[in-house]
Amino acid sequence: MRRESTENSAEGEPLVGDGVTPGIVRVGDTVRRPRRPFTATVQSYLAHLQASGFTDAPTPLGFDDHDREVLSFVPGEVPREPLPAAVRGPEVLVALAHLIRRLHDASWGWSPPADAVWFSMPGRSGAPQPPIDGPPELVTHRDYCPGNVVFRDGVPTALIDFDLAAPTTRLYDIANAMYWWVPLWDPRDRPAGFRDLDAVERVAVFADAYGMTGDQRSRLIPLVRRMVARFHRTARAAAEVDPVFRRLWDEGVNVRMPRAEAWVDSEAPRLSAAVERPPSGS
Ligand SMILES: Nc1ncnc2c1ncn2[C@@H]1O[C@H](COP(=O)(O)OP(=O)(O)O)[C@@H](O)[C@H]1O
Ligand SMILES: [Mg+2]
Repeated sequence: MRRESTENSAEGEPLVGDGVTPGIVRVGDTVRRPRRPFTATVQSYLAHLQASGFTDAPTPLGFDDHDREVLSFVPGEVPREPLPAAVRGPEVLVALAHLIRRLHDASWGWSPPADAVWFSMPGRSGAPQPPIDGPPELVTHRDYCPGNVVFRDGVPTALIDFDLAAPTTRLYDIANAMYWWVPLWDPRDRPAGFRDLDAVERVAVFADAYGMTGDQRSRLIPLVRRMVARFHRTARAAAEVDPVFRRLWDEGVNVRMPRAEAWVDSEAPRLSAAVERPPSGS
């Protein structure tokens, strides 16, 4: 078996995504990633997803002799920032919303292990962030940046990098996906192919494809505002203590985050009106 023959190898083809996690390699049809405090918890969540029939995520395969986690390699293309114009179509938002809806439905009801450990941002000294959307409902992915979404045939088909998985709400996860893929940024900071798109309309497209309830729709944009404000605060705090986050901050997050916060605040009435409009055809 291919995996056995490479089991003891520290070698492999380096996989560099957003440059957040060093030491990720591909070995045959597996990916090896350094073990972190939350890794075993994430693997138990991935095992639950597999068992419940959600197969559009890596299969957890335990740990190797180099104390790395082993995951199945998910075939497809992973876009890099800035998002290419090829992924600006509404069919991409629709497929992503369907994928996340299926992930939520598969995650619903899963109880994490009693000794679960979750990711925390550098600069937070291990303390979990207080929820900004009420009590958690489920464990889910929480980090739909482009480098964590696998495309096949031009649309999102699978999710990888569950490092930020943690108890949260469906609504928070939806807000996170919209932030990256609408995207909910100041037009000046959007990728070139996305500046002329109507963000307001795209929020409604995603909401309809997910099948958001009326209650979720009325709470979405206030949550988006709290989420973007928190992204700004936590990115700044992490930059003070962590070299990787410092580099990201200096390379543009320092300009982008305050602008995203201001843009979301000023567009909130239009965004709310679009998402609270009943889906066409109903
Ligand atoms: N299981 C996987 N299947 C396919 N590609 C993967 C897998 N895990 C990682 N990759 C590739 O490696 C890149 C970086 O891995 P990721 O787990 O997202 O780490 P980071 O924490 O750096 O974002 C991804 O963007 C993707 O291209
Ligand atoms: Mg990633």
